[in-house]
Amino acid sequence: MEKLNQLYEGKAKKVFATEDPDLYIVSYKDDATAFNGLKKGTISGKGVVNNKMSNFLMQILEKNGVPTHYVEELNDRETVVKKVSIVPLEVIIRNVSAGSFAKNYGVEEGITFPEPTIEFSYKNDDLGDPLINSYHAFALGLATKEEIQTIKDMAFRVNDVLKEYFKSLGVRLIDFKLEFGRLGDGTIVPADEISPDTCRFCDINTNEKLDKDRFRRDLGGVEDAYNEMMKRVFNL
Ligand code: TMP
Repeated sequence: MEKLNQLYEGKAKKVFATEDPDLYIVSYKDDATAFNGLKKGTISGKGVVNNKMSNFLMQILEKNGVPTHYVEELNDRETVVKKVSIVPLEVIIRNVSAGSFAKNYGVEEGITFPEPTIEFSYKNDDLGDPLINSYHAFALGLATKEEIQTIKDMAFRVNDVLKEYFKSLGVRLIDFKLEFGRLGDGTIVPADEISPDTCRFCDINTNEKLDKDRFRRDLGGVEDAYNEMMKRVFNL
């Protein structure tokens, strides 16, 4: 399958049309941003790690009964995905306090919750992706009530599957962000990516951070963290 015209360039990926109107090709870049693009950098090899890891995780979800946008990996950085219309919500699931949760609510990082939490941000860079609830999402016309319920159920299901999977690799899944898309027939599927850019991971034994927080917080060892996650997922 060949890339045709570029449809979109985001902070970490480009999206291309293909000869099949129902399929797109995404191409993963090494560019990294944080704080709504205020901090910019490059994480060498990140595009390869995120492409391969995201594809692998999407296939795990499929095996566990969660349909996704994944179709076929073309090469290290490029993947064929189903065309979706993205629901403009960032759906965040948290198992352990960290990041904006700890900051907003004045708690330490590292507290394991009795059960996972879900929250939504309105995906809108100009507004800085503000936190909203499901009533706001419905009022803004971002999704129907049924879609919002499906998204919640799927997000928790994804968490159950991924949490167990990462545990088997000695990795704790602290939190992660999902985006959902609508296929042509209206089916809601996880789209975008699931990678160290969009998840917080830490080593179960050492608590070492193995995700993009190393870039966001200038902790060093950014590439090493991505490579370590790649090694664990692919048994390298
Ligand atoms: P937060 O604690 O900064 O709100 O982040 C929660 C999770 O969402 C974390 O795993 C990182 C991920 N995330 C993204 O994927 N994109 C974003 O723009 C932000 C702010 C967070």
